Amino acid sequence: MRKMTAIFFAAVLSISLAACENFLDEPGSNTAPSSESLPSQEISVLEEASSSGQDEEVDRENILVAYFSWADNAILAEDVDAVASPSVIAPGNVQELAGWVQEETGGDLFAIRVTEPYPSDWDECLARANQERGDQARPVLQEQVENLEQYDTVFLGYPNWWYGVPMALLTFLEENDLSGKRVYLFCSHGTGGLSNSVEIITEAIPNATISNNIFDCYEEEASSSQGDIQSWVAELGYTSVPEREEKTAGTQLSVAWGENQVIYSLNDSSAAQSLLEQLPLTVAVEDYSTNEKIFYPPQELDTSDTPIASGGAGTLAYYAPWGDVVMFYGDYNENPSLFELGQIVSGEELVAQMSGSITIAAA
Ligand SMILES: Cc1cc2nc3c(=O)[nH]c(=O)nc-3n(C[C@H](O)[C@H](O)[C@H](O)COP(=O)(O)O)c2cc1C
Repeated sequence: MRKMTAIFFAAVLSISLAACENFLDEPGSNTAPSSESLPSQEISVLEEASSSGQDEEVDRENILVAYFSWADNAILAEDVDAVASPSVIAPGNVQELAGWVQEETGGDLFAIRVTEPYPSDWDECLARANQERGDQARPVLQEQVENLEQYDTVFLGYPNWWYGVPMALLTFLEENDLSGKRVYLFCSHGTGGLSNSVEIITEAIPNATISNNIFDCYEEEASSSQGDIQSWVAELGYTSVPEREEKTAGTQLSVAWGENQVIYSLNDSSAAQSLLEQLPLTVAVEDYSTNEKIFYPPQELDTSDTPIASGGAGTLAYYAPWGDVVMFYGDYNENPSLFELGQIVSGEELVAQMSGSITIAAA
């Protein structure tokens, strides 16, 4: 069905190139723009966005995932003859992508819905969308985002419609002021790629910071794009909380040297996660004071969401000012810079004897 609509759309495009002035602003605009083809002012906005972009992990309380998809803007026909009459199919491509973005980021999902649904028939939908485009219409939306000010990051999803965006997306952008917000675009399209959509959106929200890391996928590949969405969202620095907790909580860490092994159980902190991401490691263990064995992981750990160490002997901790991981075999005083990574599970009596080169790995 998707394939057929793609072929059909390509055929419509080639006929319309010659026949319909309204269809295209310019010949060849049905190819995705490269960054070179963007006006220079837009490039600087986009590049600035990417360099000020995300690092490791970001607050996900303030994310909105807003999207438009034909499938939830049409009356779905039950018994459609898919061969003779191409028609809308649920879930929509962008709807599916948006669901995965939401799952990954934990953001709030908002479907942009018009009050007057589009025809579920392909030809009729194309015709109405084209009419709206020609008229520069602003279709009325069913509802607005509540408390828009609480969001500072918006993932904005849309299909390519007539080399640009559905006009309802522009209604949305005019009614919901995204100025000052960080915006990530994701798009599903036919053979036209992103076409002019990025320029249109950039023009509509000049005061938002639009990342140039845009996710787009061909319509036939949308339904198998969950992994790609996960990678994209992770690349932007949005690792979901549940995923992180699943990864670290109760994960065991082995510290081995010679014939000996000590096992720790990690907590679900961001610092434990940062340590896990650097494993396996083989490093030199050092003595510190009379109650600690320490080692230095190659990279600093992220302590943003990590409790202060308080567990006494057997604690695995991180001393942020020096960037060393500490294995306590005696009591210690609490310290606001000393963060807890986990607790010993076995081999407690061996910690004091640890020496030389140790290998740390997830057990
Ligand atoms: C009214 C309409 C216009 C479209 N115009 C284009 C276009 O200009 N270029 C393109 O590549 N795809 C175009 N498409 C195809 C959609 O972008 C593509 O099928 C997308 O995956 C649909 O996502 P959705 O299912 O979430 O609506 C159009 C589709 C429709 C319904």
